[in-house]
Amino acid sequence: MSRIEGHPIVRIERGEPFAFAFSGRSIKAYPGEMIASALFAAGIRVFGHHPRDGAPQGIYCANGQCAQCLVLADGVPVKACMTPARPGMRVEPVDGLPELPPIDRVPEMREVETIAVPVLILGGGPAGLSAAIELGSRGIETLLVDDKDRLGGKLVLQTHRFFGSIHAVYAGTRGIDIGTRLAREVDGLDSVDVWLNSTALAVFSDKKVGVLRGDRYVLVEPEALLVATGAREKSLVFDGNTLPGVYGAGAFQTLVNRDLVRAADRLFIVGGGNVGLIAGYHALQAGIDVVGLVEALPECGGYKVHRDKLARMGVPIYTSHTILSANGTDGVESVTIARVDEGFRPIAGTERSYGCDTVLIAVGLDPVDEFYEAARRFELPVFAAGDAEEIAEASAAIFSGKIQGLEIARHLGATDESVPDDWRTTSEILKSKPGRTIDRAIRQGESPEANGSAGTVRPVLHCSQEIPCNPCTSVCPQGLIRIDEDDIRKTPEFLGERLGKECIGCERCVTVCPGLAITLVDRRDDPERPIVTIPFEYAPERIAVGDQVDVLDAVGDLLGSVPVVEVKAIEANDRTVLVKVRAPGGIAERIAGIRVQESWVGEPLPEAVEPIRDTDIVCRCERVTAGEIRELIRSGLRDVNEIKTMTRAGMGACGGKTCSTLILRLFREEGVPFDEVTENVPRPLFVEVPFASFAGCVSNAEGTDSFEPGRESSGFSRLEGRS
Ligand code: FES
Repeated sequence: MSRIEGHPIVRIERGEPFAFAFSGRSIKAYPGEMIASALFAAGIRVFGHHPRDGAPQGIYCANGQCAQCLVLADGVPVKACMTPARPGMRVEPVDGLPELPPIDRVPEMREVETIAVPVLILGGGPAGLSAAIELGSRGIETLLVDDKDRLGGKLVLQTHRFFGSIHAVYAGTRGIDIGTRLAREVDGLDSVDVWLNSTALAVFSDKKVGVLRGDRYVLVEPEALLVATGAREKSLVFDGNTLPGVYGAGAFQTLVNRDLVRAADRLFIVGGGNVGLIAGYHALQAGIDVVGLVEALPECGGYKVHRDKLARMGVPIYTSHTILSANGTDGVESVTIARVDEGFRPIAGTERSYGCDTVLIAVGLDPVDEFYEAARRFELPVFAAGDAEEIAEASAAIFSGKIQGLEIARHLGATDESVPDDWRTTSEILKSKPGRTIDRAIRQGESPEANGSAGTVRPVLHCSQEIPCNPCTSVCPQGLIRIDEDDIRKTPEFLGERLGKECIGCERCVTVCPGLAITLVDRRDDPERPIVTIPFEYAPERIAVGDQVDVLDAVGDLLGSVPVVEVKAIEANDRTVLVKVRAPGGIAERIAGIRVQESWVGEPLPEAVEPIRDTDIVCRCERVTAGEIRELIRSGLRDVNEIKTMTRAGMGACGGKTCSTLILRLFREEGVPFDEVTENVPRPLFVEVPFASFAGCVSNAEGTDSFEPGRESSGFSRLEGRS
């Protein structure tokens, strides 16, 4: 593990390094870097050991949700993934139950401030930012609260170009750049105030929202609340599922794409949805080997273009397979997988193990909707947008934020404009799941098998699944690529011959396609050995004229080895390199990509590794296994609260965020109807907080907080502020 020193998409800008101590060892960090990221970059991924069984603890979510990364920083327990390192800081692992330092002074207390605002938005990701723009552009005073040190939410992790509608949600632009654009727009709105490094803790029955701003506790009293808190990753039960090195795909993207830490050498991915597929692609871009990906269903659930892209890069994809165990002692050393039958049961004798140091769990997302539910319970006017409302792509979140922004403006009486029907239609389209897959070989004039005509140049469209995406249609200067205007989920068509116009070989469609699913075949100078232009999102230094490269068809089958004749890396193509190869005429139209990963990377170990049994943890915080909970269910328990009382499952620091859905799944596996189960009673606070915060205590003697604002609020001029 180390830092990434070159990335094809993300610009690396680090400030002056400084040192802090971990267990007495000097660790290098950069300004703004979280403790967890600096430790990872130094090769440390065990941050402590659990008091119950001494199991090693590291990160899981890297997003403040799971509390696995607890360390003591200058004597105070903090989440390493959410706490920036500071020069000279003394960080200690949490081994067992350490003693906290004695308190040597009476803490200074003060009244907790209450602030009234027309609109409070929780979450500065795609949905929250879009809503803030909609509200702010109407002059509506809005407070946006986010727990990170910059706006953008998950957009700051997305290095790939976005799907969706080019007009509605910036499709064809990279997620990180969309995040920057939306944040700038918010920045320019006088009526929108932003609190960064600020965590919403709870919604109370008096309709106030508790927010920890830095370490200063504030009560916010909104007329309307928008919950745009995104999603948290689902967990999975298997032997070794809490070993350091097993973590959520979002955590991996945070370490790699935000913090530029090379968080793994050899990665295995569990889950073939868009999150897992994209994480695999991001890993390859960061120079990390992707040993394989398992998906229990017969087909990957994510976009086919994402799946195909990964396969073309050389990543083995095992559908109808599941993970049996992550194996190792102080961290992941290998993973064992097996084929599953129609009932998703592993088939004995099909077990195989692969050497890897990291296992990514990407098995779906749950909405972070507890604030929404609490606000509804207490009859505070509340709206939800993005993943907090419904799990979908980030492009859908952008649009749902826009819609809810307008709904709130209407609710406040600031406009009588209602949400246009076409906004609702666009929103539904953007949220839709992948549709039909067509066979391009039989569509007239688009067969990748068919050779183009001598003396012509034309694009070959390798995208064959109905998904909401249209950037290719808007960039063609000849207007030769078309998608049904009423429904951008339809697959694109090349209309060249039908319109009697010719492709001019401008390459814009090749560059803009988010799925890297368009190539250009140029038979103008040599019809028998045409030039094929292939998009390539890696550092241009990784490939050179004269190299012999393996080329593959759309789904990843090897076609042959061909020479590179040009590598075109120009600014106008926004970090998409165009690689031109000269290929035999018979395969030119079928070429869709270049393999970047050698096939030996995905080879299994000679023998399957036996898992260490009874390490399939359901409650990470309290180390409760699936076996313990199953036993209670079989003994007749139907109340999750009773299970919590008897095992402590759900009683830990994370507040049941990771185990609650797993416990419900165990009931289902045991054949217990859901209506017989009494669910866990949620805790009033959704995030851990020092009790002292509620007494207005702050961390230093002067009574000033340690909050370092990205944009310090100037307060609300026309709002009531009271103590
Ligand atoms: S890894 Fe830090 S809270 Fe989950």
